[in-house]
Amino acid sequence: MYSRIAGTGGYLPERVLTNAELEKMVDTSDEWIRSRTGIISRHIVSPGETTVDLAEHAARAALQSAGVEPQEVDFIVFGTTTPDLIFPNCGVLLQQRLGIHGCPAFSVEAACTGFIYSLSIADKFVRLGEAKCALVIGAETLTRMVNWKDRQTCVLFADGAGAVVLKPSDEPGIVSTHLHADGRYQDLLYYPGGVSKGWVEPGDGQGVQMRGNEVFKVAVNTLGRIVDETLEANKLQKSQIDWLVPHQANIRIIQATAKKLEMPLEKVIITVHEHGNTSAASVPLALDVGVRDGRIKRGDLLLLEAFGGGFTWGSALVRY
Ligand code: COA
Repeated sequence: MYSRIAGTGGYLPERVLTNAELEKMVDTSDEWIRSRTGIISRHIVSPGETTVDLAEHAARAALQSAGVEPQEVDFIVFGTTTPDLIFPNCGVLLQQRLGIHGCPAFSVEAACTGFIYSLSIADKFVRLGEAKCALVIGAETLTRMVNWKDRQTCVLFADGAGAVVLKPSDEPGIVSTHLHADGRYQDLLYYPGGVSKGWVEPGDGQGVQMRGNEVFKVAVNTLGRIVDETLEANKLQKSQIDWLVPHQANIRIIQATAKKLEMPLEKVIITVHEHGNTSAASVPLALDVGVRDGRIKRGDLLLLEAFGGGFTWGSALVRY
């Protein structure tokens, strides 16, 4: 038994924040942001709008594209680092929004790799026959944790939600997933406050802390290694991958991974220019964009990959 993606969905908040607006907020320029990151604009939540608000839109779109009623969902796993509440977890809040009751629902906190971790977990439950219709979410309101005076981070992060529905299948589907973490890199990218350590507001030198240059180098190396690991585990040649669906952190990191795969950028789903880095939402959002605009077709072989704070990183080889 395998699991396969039966439908995808995505949602971005309405408010668009352009580089031109950021020029008025911090000492930066459209040219700097574009050339160093590839980002031109990004979507951010409005006051009162939450991670679960975004996730509900994405989930409903995924259910619709899978032709599934909410009542059929029997498993919810929700990747996020920016939950609405400490508890109930976002999976349960989403379950309630969808009007369903009783199935397991939980969130997974793995920063930008949250969706890949969640997909891997859901895949196991479907394969074991313990779930027949799994809803997998990646959703974030990362801009709530950004220090809007820190020009290095505030130009990067953004908000959004993506979702997939997994159903059982005789053929793969999710061919393999590969998950990793290494806490030696925790100081390169982190948020300085939490519940048991004490909350820290994201202003005045606080907010997401990042050593951008070092993150960049480790990300390129790590993603290069996980591409090799995924290909080797499946005895695949690079040329057999139809689409790379990467975490949308920085166009230069995406280009480096594509180069490693010897893939032209035409075979890479790129949304970073309009989405920015939406953390756990970025891979499912990019997947949804590629599916809906008709580039990704049934039967295509996809390589999904992500890395994030921790560091955590992971990949999924998917026969769509
Ligand atoms: N606008 C203008 N200048 C900026 C700037 C901004 N928004 N942010 C930083 N700078 C400046 C720096 O202060 C530095 O100035 P200095 O030379 O006078 O000290 C200069 O630009 C170069 O900084 P550097 O950090 O070396 O730039 P970079 O080429 O590494 O690009 C990042 C910076 C953050 C874009 C890049 O390192 C990156 O994308 N890293 C990965 C981050 C990431 O993906 N995080 C999320 C992981 S999930």
